[in-house]
Amino acid sequence: MSEEAKAYVAGIFDRAAGDYEQVGVDFFGPVGARLALHAQPGERVLDVGCGRGASLFPAAERVGPTGFVHGVDLAPGMVREAGAELERRGVTNARVTLGDAESLDFPDESFDAVQSGLVIFFVPDMPQAAREIARVLRPGGRLALATFAEDREEDQTLQATLRNLLTPYLPPPPPTANGPTPAERLRTPESLHTLLKDFTTIEFADHLQRILFPTPDHYWSWLWSAGMRAMMESIPTPALPEAKHTFTEGVRSLAAPDGTFTFTMPLRFTTATRP
Ligand SMILES: C[S@@+](CC[C@H](N)C(=O)[O-])C[C@H]1O[C@@H](n2cnc3c(N)ncnc32)[C@H](O)[C@@H]1O
Repeated sequence: MSEEAKAYVAGIFDRAAGDYEQVGVDFFGPVGARLALHAQPGERVLDVGCGRGASLFPAAERVGPTGFVHGVDLAPGMVREAGAELERRGVTNARVTLGDAESLDFPDESFDAVQSGLVIFFVPDMPQAAREIARVLRPGGRLALATFAEDREEDQTLQATLRNLLTPYLPPPPPTANGPTPAERLRTPESLHTLLKDFTTIEFADHLQRILFPTPDHYWSWLWSAGMRAMMESIPTPALPEAKHTFTEGVRSLAAPDGTFTFTMPLRFTTATRP
């Protein structure tokens, strides 16, 4: 089951990789830059689920020439794109390889810090990923995580409105799909405390990330470019033109006078120390 779930996630992000962070909507970039603030000059940092490098590139800059950042990702497309970008930018203190958070291919105690931005809730066996992260961290090493936080009440109505625009085109969930969606996992401080039970000095910093969509079409493209792609791919192909029309017109009706649409995403940045 775990292998099947991982293959599914890898496939979604593999197909999204070409468009990930490329559709003119800034989200993962600012989140990654904030996450990488923990990295210190000279450190060896592991980026788990590095994607196209939203937190890997700023961390590489922060650790500088005497430090090193190693990114791993389950999706070959992400590894390919991030690797190409490393080469394009001439970054020599970072590398990216295929890897799985549940079984990290590194010796014990080989990193000063581990960072993981909006990844861990996609991992079927999250406690196993936490054990692996603790294993590869040196004693006193630090973990920095970004996850989604609880929705604010004032955003819930807008979210329901947006969701309802697509609901008529989505198939009914299969009977097995009664667990929480990835975004719903790890959404409370308690769930993070439980996951990080082997860590100390756990601290949270919540942050509201604004996402600006220049046009409704940008929003539609963005939905295909990351994890929401799983939902978008479940829309039957013949229904896609109508679904797109309904969605973009719905967003247009909610847009600002200049045609832009802004959405607020509650995020939680967690830091913890390996004893
Ligand atoms: C929402 S993206 C975040 C990527 C990057 N951290 C960022 O902030 O842009 C989630 C990433 O986690 C990766 N991923 C999912 N499950 C994984 C696992 N078990 N091991 C490693 N990476 C995984 C996906 O392939 C995807 O690139």
